[in-house]
Amino acid sequence: MDLEDLKRRAAEAAVGYVHSGMRLGLGTGTTTRWAVERIGALLAAGELADVVGVPTSRATEALMRRVGIPVVELDERGVDLAIDGADEIAPDLTLVKGHGGALLREKIVEAAAGRFIVIADHTKRVHVIGEKKAVPIEIARFGWRRTVSLIEALGARCTVRLDGNHEPALSDNGNLLVDAHFGPVGDPRGLEQQLLALPGVFEVGLFVGLADLAIVAGPDGKLEELS
Ligand code: A5P
Repeated sequence: MDLEDLKRRAAEAAVGYVHSGMRLGLGTGTTTRWAVERIGALLAAGELADVVGVPTSRATEALMRRVGIPVVELDERGVDLAIDGADEIAPDLTLVKGHGGALLREKIVEAAAGRFIVIADHTKRVHVIGEKKAVPIEIARFGWRRTVSLIEALGARCTVRLDGNHEPALSDNGNLLVDAHFGPVGDPRGLEQQLLALPGVFEVGLFVGLADLAIVAGPDGKLEELS
């Protein structure tokens, strides 16, 4: 099965947890896209009703509007259920997220969720976080070289993310995105806290203790639920 089919299977399984009347948090990326499309189709068919969603990026907001999911702002109630992809998933459901650049809004929404379901194909599973992917970090433009040097002093090799014109890419919040290559991270919560303590760092793509359930599609399409 190709990867898109696997992503779609995991996403559609997560949509099985969506009920009428729910307030959703909707993530960003090629896996979540399938979930958003499926929710839109169920609303159009009348199989779901009164579902609204908080998008975690402008791209997801545009897709929601296209498929007919009412867009709402995050407020003090949070959301009932968040569904999102991930770049790495460790056995304890610690995640690396943000390779799509939406980590700051994703963390705000997913930390405000009654339940957070991660969806992925099997290529996202790792033994140890940081094994394959860099840790995305959203930082202020002001003084970015200094902030990057502070991140590197914690043991990373950093690259500033560039857009198609080889200019620094800006997040939806107007900030820079740094990919910090730490290699395998033994203490993700500790590293997250060290990074968040640096002046200029707005958010870190280490999601520790936030996911409640991961639905992962294996190479044969078989779904595995990890919690
Ligand atoms: C967006 O910033 C990310 O956190 C995505 O959730 C993550 O990159 C997964 O994206 P794909 O589903 O496209 O792999």
